[in-house]
Amino acid sequence: MELDLIDIHRLIIEPATLEDIQQVYEIDKENFVYHWSLESFYNELKYKWSEFFVAKYKYAQRFTAELFCEVVGYIICWVFDKEAHITNLSVKRKFQNKKIGSKLLAYLINVLRQKNVEHVYLEVRERNFVAIKLYQKFGFKQIALRENFYPDGEHAIVMNLELNP
Ligand SMILES: CC(C)(COP(=O)(O)OP(=O)(O)OC[C@H]1O[C@@H](n2cnc3c(N)ncnc32)[C@H](O)[C@@H]1OP(=O)(O)O)[C@@H](O)C(=O)NCCC(=O)NCCS
Repeated sequence: MELDLIDIHRLIIEPATLEDIQQVYEIDKENFVYHWSLESFYNELKYKWSEFFVAKYKYAQRFTAELFCEVVGYIICWVFDKEAHITNLSVKRKFQNKKIGSKLLAYLINVLRQKNVEHVYLEVRERNFVAIKLYQKFGFKQIALRENFYPDGEHAIVMNLELNP
């Protein structure tokens, strides 16, 4: 598929299903050195506290008109009463910088508001400037620094978003 043909209206966000997990795992693997196992994604479907959404892009092959539906990103969040923790957000490399991460985050925040969540937390690598910019755009603020948080020694910035303040 040619990326200049991306039409954001063909993007749908919906709860992840068993059929999506292999594609989710491939996206995770291409983006993170210390990626999750396939099993850990399957487990997320079982946890009652897990909110797990995928972004899918629907498109037709230019010459055959055959229809495809590709998983292009996902977001996972654990919710415990008034508190939520975003544990994973990732967009397929060739689809990055096309607002898919923003759409996933906006979708999740809307779900969390409906669940009356008040406090949202996440950790992000301190040199992951794109992700930090995305979170700041949605109002997340740095509240702490966890030194040597990642296996390679990089620090984690802890960010928080207060909903319904
Ligand atoms: C971080 C990530 C989820 C963002 O998703 P995305 O779809 O690429 O981001 P968006 O297109 O919604 O852009 C979000 C903001 O980041 C900026 N941005 C995105 N890609 C960028 C790039 N390559 N260089 C500079 N800025 C970039 C955008 O300009 C945008 O800000 P704006 O709306 O003010 O213009 C995605 O890049 C990704 O999967 N990265 C690898 C995995 C990862 O780091 N996940 C986060 C773990 S905490």
